[in-house]
Order: sequence, then C-alpha cells, then structure tokens
Amino acid sequence: MEKVYKYIEEHVSAQGEALDWVEKQTHIRTNHARMLSGAIQGELLRIIVKTSGARRILELGTFTGYSAICLAMAMPEDGHLDTLELNDELEDLILEGFDRAGVADRISLHIGDCKETLAAMRSDMGLADGMEAAPDKLYDIVYMDANKREYCEYYDLVFDMVRPGGLILADNVLWDGKVCQDPLPQDKQTQGIARFNDMVSKDPRVESVIMPLRDGLNIIRKK
Ligand SMILES: C[S@@+](CC[C@H](N)C(=O)[O-])C[C@H]1O[C@@H](n2cnc3c(N)ncnc32)[C@H](O)[C@@H]1O
Repeated sequence: MEKVYKYIEEHVSAQGEALDWVEKQTHIRTNHARMLSGAIQGELLRIIVKTSGARRILELGTFTGYSAICLAMAMPEDGHLDTLELNDELEDLILEGFDRAGVADRISLHIGDCKETLAAMRSDMGLADGMEAAPDKLYDIVYMDANKREYCEYYDLVFDMVRPGGLILADNVLWDGKVCQDPLPQDKQTQGIARFNDMVSKDPRVESVIMPLRDGLNIIRKK
C-alpha cells in the first residue's frame, strides 16, 4: 500500500510555492507534521471546491493552514473561508502562509475552541433560536478536521449551517484502520470516530461514502 501511495504522490499536480513553504515550516516549527493534509488530499479538496463552485466554506481545525490554503485557492475571488483553530501559538505561521499564498483576504481565522466559535457563529446566523439561517449565510462546504473525539457534536452543530446540496467532508474517519478492529479499541478518539461514521451512515438527511484516501475521508452530501 505504501508503494501505491508513493506512486500517487509522484503523480499528483504540483502544490505550488506557498504550500511547499507551509509544509516545510510545519516540519521545522511543529512536532505534529503528520497532521497536515498534504498534496494528495489538498489536490482533492481543490478539485471538489472548483467543480462544486463553492464560495462559502467552513473549516474546523486549521493547524498550520495547509488545507485552508487549498480550499481558499480553489474558491472564486469573492469566496470566503472561515477556519477555526484552538492553538493560538500557530497564528503567526498560519497568517504568513495565507499571505504568501495570496489568499489572506478570503480567509477569516478564528482562534478558540471550535465548539464555542460555532455556537457564536450559529447565534450570528440566527440559528440559536431554532430559526432558519438566511440562504446567503449558509456554507457550501464544511471541512471537519479538528478533535476526533468531538465529530458527532461538530456534525450536530454544523448541520443546519450547510445549504441543501452542500457537503460535509470529515477527515481521518478510518483512524489508522482502528475503526475496523474487533473488538473496537476503547480510546476516546477511535470511539468518537466510529460513533460518527455510524451516525452518518444512518442519517436519512444525507448520502455519504468513506473514501479510503490517506486516513479516510467521509464525503457527506446534505440532501
Ligand atoms: C489534523 S489537524 C488539522 C490539519 C489541517 N486541516 C491541515 O490539513 O493542514 C487538527 C487541528 O485541530 C485543532 N483542534 C483540536 N481541537 C480543537 C478544538 N476543540 N477547536 C479548534 N481546533 C481544534 C488542533 O489544534 C489541530 O491544529
């Protein structure tokens, strides 16, 4: 499988100077470079955004900004990405990457716990009182890539922030294959993701498929 993955990596479109810079800086300045989406997933995200014509995107879990740049680069110039990150120590690196990629004016970075930020965003959209949001405030795509233990809660919080026909893309849903182990490992992350995949597959409001790309991407379309 590693050989196949390497082959795919060698045949994906070049990611460009700004993303090369973010990848390199992530290795130099953080201890968690494996969290970064990387060229293959980044290119898939760009193609999804371009083909869907998405102009409003929400990302949970910015890390060093790699996937945010991919999403923003693929949007039309009047598009907007809101990206949510807990770790304020990453802010300078994230913002420098956005500048280098020429997408800073299309992105709002929200530092803080994403459940709190989402609650505030829901309130701004008028959703906190059980109302419907104005259609132009709804998101075309949500890319979910923050705390794996909390995917079910994120799903509930973002669901009515997405327009009908819009996508929720959830990353790492195979969790290194742990979600398929029998018995299921008891750690909170595996349990959280397994619960999330079960919940989505039983949700009649969506159609979904897990792609075995990298660590697994659940592609969920709201009907
Ligand atoms: C897998 S990384 C995101 C990778 C990024 N999307 C990319 O492709 O480069 C997950 C990120 O989510 C952040 N995170 C974890 N829990 C969070 C929370 N409760 N609220 C906001 N961000 C959170 C982490 O700090 C980490 O930077």
